[in-house]
Amino acid sequence: MLTFDHVTKQFTEDSYGVRDITFEIEPGEFVFITGPSGSGKTTLMRLMTREYTPTEGEIHLEDLPVSALKNSQLHELRRRIGVVFQDYRLLTDLNVWENIALPLYIIGKKQAEIEERVTDLLKLVELTDKALLFPRQLSGGEAQRISIARALATGPGIIFADEPTGNLDNENAVRIGKLLHKINELGTTVLMATHDENVLGVFKGTRRMRLDNGKLVEDKGKKKASVSVRVKDAAPNSVEDDKNRQETGKKELETENDESAETQTEKPAKKGLLGDLLKKKSKED
Ligand SMILES: Nc1ncnc2c1ncn2[C@@H]1O[C@H](COP(=O)(O)OP(=O)(O)OP(=O)(O)O)[C@@H](O)[C@H]1O
Ligand SMILES: [Mg+2]
Repeated sequence: MLTFDHVTKQFTEDSYGVRDITFEIEPGEFVFITGPSGSGKTTLMRLMTREYTPTEGEIHLEDLPVSALKNSQLHELRRRIGVVFQDYRLLTDLNVWENIALPLYIIGKKQAEIEERVTDLLKLVELTDKALLFPRQLSGGEAQRISIARALATGPGIIFADEPTGNLDNENAVRIGKLLHKINELGTTVLMATHDENVLGVFKGTRRMRLDNGKLVEDKGKKKASVSVRVKDAAPNSVEDDKNRQETGKKELETENDESAETQTEKPAKKGLLGDLLKKKSKED
């Protein structure tokens, strides 16, 4: 669960990024963040990743008190949040494969695990054949799909895509929207900042929060709170509970296409789960 509780970010006496913003996002939700230029969408992302600290209010991501984290805990926060930018921000000297693998090398994963994960992520974004190309050899749509794969590399529970379709034509923009929805269906919470009417039009039923001049002026399409209490009731930081949560998540996913699962709004978004899913998916393929 991500919560913003009366969060304000003030830059100067009369300049605000966001003002008194309060919302909750449940694990497994997909949320569009909309609003005109300068309304506070990127500020929201930077508050989430603790690039900015709030002037007032509190932010929590699951058990992490984002706004009060010590610098030494920031790596944990940033492992749990994947970010995607409008301009892709791929490293030009590394090829596609290396760009996706880099976050895994940084956190010290073993070579075999890295190879398996990068292979799975390339399959997910349908760019296996481009693994050895460099970013300059990719189209904009392809570069964005690689940047999404990189954002997923460490298995974050949540990703924030900030105007990911801003540089793309309509067809590629919708493709990116669909890819992010697919990733969401696999269990990752997705926040997508956009004012791309074309993409918004394709996903009409999806929750959207609209910002205007730093204020949250509309929040519509939020599904009702889940009837499941298993995850919420579990005491945090217990290994046993963590195992149970993963099991619960797996079970829910196994029944993803069941009719009964349609009423489940609480999808799993736990670390490592995407990896399991990708493995499952590649076995099916
Ligand atoms: N580091 C900063 N210093 C001063 N003001 C800032 C800073 N970052 C953002 N702002 C201000 O906060 C407001 C919100 O900016 P933000 O970048 O969050 O908007 P946005 O909704 O992402 O806009 P866009 O759609 O153009 O990307 C703007 O008025 C901006 O000038
Ligand atoms: Mg922005």
